Amino acid sequence: MHVFLIAALSADGFIAKTVDQISTRWTSKEDAAFFAQKTKEAGVVVMGRTTFETIGRPLPDRKTFVYTTRELLGFPPELVEATQLPPAELLAKLEAEGYTQVAICGGSQVYTKWMQSGLIDKIYLTIEPVFFGTGIRLFTEEITNTIRLKERHLLSDQTTVLEYEVLR
Ligand SMILES: NC(=O)c1ccc[n+]([C@@H]2O[C@H](COP(=O)([O-])OP(=O)(O)OC[C@H]3O[C@@H](n4cnc5c(N)ncnc54)[C@H](OP(=O)(O)O)[C@@H]3O)[C@@H](O)[C@H]2O)c1
Repeated sequence: MHVFLIAALSADGFIAKTVDQISTRWTSKEDAAFFAQKTKEAGVVVMGRTTFETIGRPLPDRKTFVYTTRELLGFPPELVEATQLPPAELLAKLEAEGYTQVAICGGSQVYTKWMQSGLIDKIYLTIEPVFFGTGIRLFTEEITNTIRLKERHLLSDQTTVLEYEVLR
């Protein structure tokens, strides 16, 4: 199972200025297209309830697993499913459902939990030309994984995606 983390970062290293801020408010249309392409290839995305609320609806053509301790009401179960499963157990479930890759889409809590699980094999970080000064970091706790830059994707003259392999 190919498990990748995908995130957009401000040039000073934040994924958002505030918890209620949807990323597409400050990211580029090129990044939106890159995100759509990668996550549609996967067919399934995983995100936290806070991130899901910033989007407010299921992403088209992808199944969304939402980490939450609450009930998710009003969404078709074939499009949106609540979960509390540890990463390895959710992966086993997705494999059993026939998925071969999964996109870990944040936010900070979910990125941290999955990175610490050791199950992520690739990371895509889009760097956008904005500064926040303060805000939400990619991770909330210590991360010890070793990564290696594999490729740089120039989405435009302003926006670059750094593609990393996770070595362990
Ligand atoms: N720039 C980017 O690429 C990007 C990508 C994604 C998100 N973001 C930003 O990140 C921010 C949100 O990040 P965040 O870290 O605050 O929140 P988050 O990771 O999106 O969601 C946190 C919530 O997920 C649920 N959760 C987490 N772990 C769980 C577990 N083990 N079991 C059950 N539920 C669990 C809890 O929901 P309940 O309270 O419902 O239990 C928790 O409050 C937003 O501003 C968003 O826009 C940015």
